[in-house]
Amino acid sequence: MPAFDFADFFRRTPDDDGPDLITIDGTDRFLLDEAPHVHGDALRHPGAVTVVDDQRGVLTLGVLAVHGADDVRVVQDSLVSERALESIAGTFGRRGFHHPETYEDAFTDARLVLLRLSKSHDRLDEVARAVARFAAPDVVLLCGGRTKYMTLSQNDVLRRSFGEVAASRGRGKSRLLVAQDPLRAAANRAAITDPWPRRVHLDELGMTIAAHGGVFAGASLDLGTRVLLGEMDAAVPTARVAVDLGSGNGVIATEIARRRPGLRVIATDVSAVAVASSRMTADLNGVGDRVRTVRSDAGDELDEGSAQLVLCNPPFHADTTVSTDAAEAMFRNAATILQSGGELWCVWNSHLRYRPVLEKTVGPTRQITRTDRFTVTASRRS
Ligand SMILES: C[S@@+](CC[C@H](N)C(=O)[O-])C[C@H]1O[C@@H](n2cnc3c(N)ncnc32)[C@H](O)[C@@H]1O
Repeated sequence: MPAFDFADFFRRTPDDDGPDLITIDGTDRFLLDEAPHVHGDALRHPGAVTVVDDQRGVLTLGVLAVHGADDVRVVQDSLVSERALESIAGTFGRRGFHHPETYEDAFTDARLVLLRLSKSHDRLDEVARAVARFAAPDVVLLCGGRTKYMTLSQNDVLRRSFGEVAASRGRGKSRLLVAQDPLRAAANRAAITDPWPRRVHLDELGMTIAAHGGVFAGASLDLGTRVLLGEMDAAVPTARVAVDLGSGNGVIATEIARRRPGLRVIATDVSAVAVASSRMTADLNGVGDRVRTVRSDAGDELDEGSAQLVLCNPPFHADTTVSTDAAEAMFRNAATILQSGGELWCVWNSHLRYRPVLEKTVGPTRQITRTDRFTVTASRRS
């Protein structure tokens, strides 16, 4: 089958005179070009294709619109990606996909899985194990990434779950990995000792942390978070509701709930695996009834004026790219979530120039502590 012309597809869609609404990058295009070659049959059978971590919805739309697949299952860790897919699918009037809740629902009897690699090998490991365990015996897991972010250890990760793993030649800046022959018997046996979600007891906190593959810091305590936890007791002691903004494995939400028995806590993250991990960490440590977990983009699903305290160890990466956009969106939303007089307590790498941003977006900001690497500030919502 010849490589399709994605731009041509979009020129044929609703608004002929308008600009192309989205562009496709080389990796998504490579994945879509190769899909019919690695498992053309799967594309013709409704329900046989699953797409994983489609960053902008383009892979899913391509599988539906260009290859004619139907009933495509989509697993997107990021809510932002999920919203991007909903939006472009709506723009082009395409349905035919859904987001299953569990890996079992996402991969049972799947025959072709298209996966956009992230930098997390743990994410790849958890997904590959689930594919090997639940998918059809003839499944092909086709992974695509930017060559400069790919390493040979990704092949090793795939070999834990698949008998045959091959790398394509590079095309432009991208490369594909093809995994076949799922080690199903091994995967079923390993399910008993499946490392995901990982659970680690931290003596330092007397807490068990749970983490699915791909969660920030995994099942460990981040160094910056440790500094914040050391100062946290002084943070708005009268608070009735606190928010852990960007909750990751849920350690901050769980720890403050344990220290303050009357407090209700909302743990929120953009990442599905982070939300699931936060949920599990809270439950494992006996505070699940007071910790609510919510998937949101920088807290945008939380109500205005709903908390007296927001705790945050903001991200400074979006996968492979250094970015302060998410952190700044979090600060803006913290100002909305906080009642007047409430405070945002935030830990950040001291080299970042967050203080003026906090002053501007939240309110008067004071330094609580500064170590050689981290600064903790409290910003009061006026
Ligand atoms: C530095 S980690 C902190 C995680 C956890 N609170 C801890 O202390 O270990 C930042 C977290 O923010 C989350 N995040 C990134 N962008 C986000 C966004 N737009 N909205 C909500 N959470 C986001 C990441 O998934 C990650 O879990």
